[in-house]
Amino acid sequence: MLKILYTHAEMFAARAAMQGTIGFVPTMGFLHQGHLSLVRKALDENDHAIVSIFVNPTQFGPAEDLSKYPRDLERDLAMISELGNVLVWIPDAKEMYPDNFQTWVEVESLTKPLEGEMRPGHFRGVTTVVAKLFNAVQPSKAYFGQKDFQQAAVIGQMARDLSYPTKIVVCPTMREADGLAMSSRNSYLNPQERAAAPVLWQALQAAVEAYAKGERDARVLVSDIENRINHEPLAKIQYVRCSDALTLADVEGDLRGPAVISLAVFFGATRLIDNISLG
Ligand code: PAJ
Repeated sequence: MLKILYTHAEMFAARAAMQGTIGFVPTMGFLHQGHLSLVRKALDENDHAIVSIFVNPTQFGPAEDLSKYPRDLERDLAMISELGNVLVWIPDAKEMYPDNFQTWVEVESLTKPLEGEMRPGHFRGVTTVVAKLFNAVQPSKAYFGQKDFQQAAVIGQMARDLSYPTKIVVCPTMREADGLAMSSRNSYLNPQERAAAPVLWQALQAAVEAYAKGERDARVLVSDIENRINHEPLAKIQYVRCSDALTLADVEGDLRGPAVISLAVFFGATRLIDNISLG
């Protein structure tokens, strides 16, 4: 059974009437099995589950895909309703950003590299909207995907810094049968691009194998991934980076502690991201 709410007033009233633990999954809709894996976990681990659907304009750059971001609310609601009793909050842009809005939440160091470098202002939009969502939902636990590992790290930092009592839970990346990480943006790919896109997962897997065999030089791991992706003519690399898993600082020499290799690659106009953890 679904309960659907639109305004802050409705959300606050529903929250005030709830007892027990609340698991929260913020999304931008156009749901896939990756999103649903988070909702299942929220249902499993809590007395109530709340999902928000809001395509957040402030996290899109001026040249990005806000206006054509895929939407299918009816399908999203049908998918969620199959999972159980979920409260779905669907605020609109005026509700989230009333006239004269001028307060922002910004995490400093963790937002500098990687996606923050490529998408200026992106994380400021993410942390601001997630803070607002947390304020209304007051979740016990909030669920995020490893697919956007920097986002999960940034939200974890925000939650600690701003003393949210919410536990941030990071869940594994769900993939298609051929390894492509599920993403709402995969719907932009034409059939040729879709057929080429699993090269990202194959290249990351090759690095996992090299690491398992003892390769610890970050430059070797990264350049091997770049070579594999460059063999695919439809793929245009934006970055492949090896980072310290905690600080997200670049690792250019030997890997000593836990690391993440992350990448952003264009297939035509579509920008895909993926990552794997090492150690
Ligand atoms: P969205 O891209 O809709 O993703 C919502 C959540 O689903 C995020 O935590 C994301 O990491 C997770 N997710 C996406 N693809 C996944 C996959 N293949 N496997 C597992 N989890 C996956 O991320 C956002 O929305 C927004 O930035 C948001 C946090 C809602 C703020 O606007």
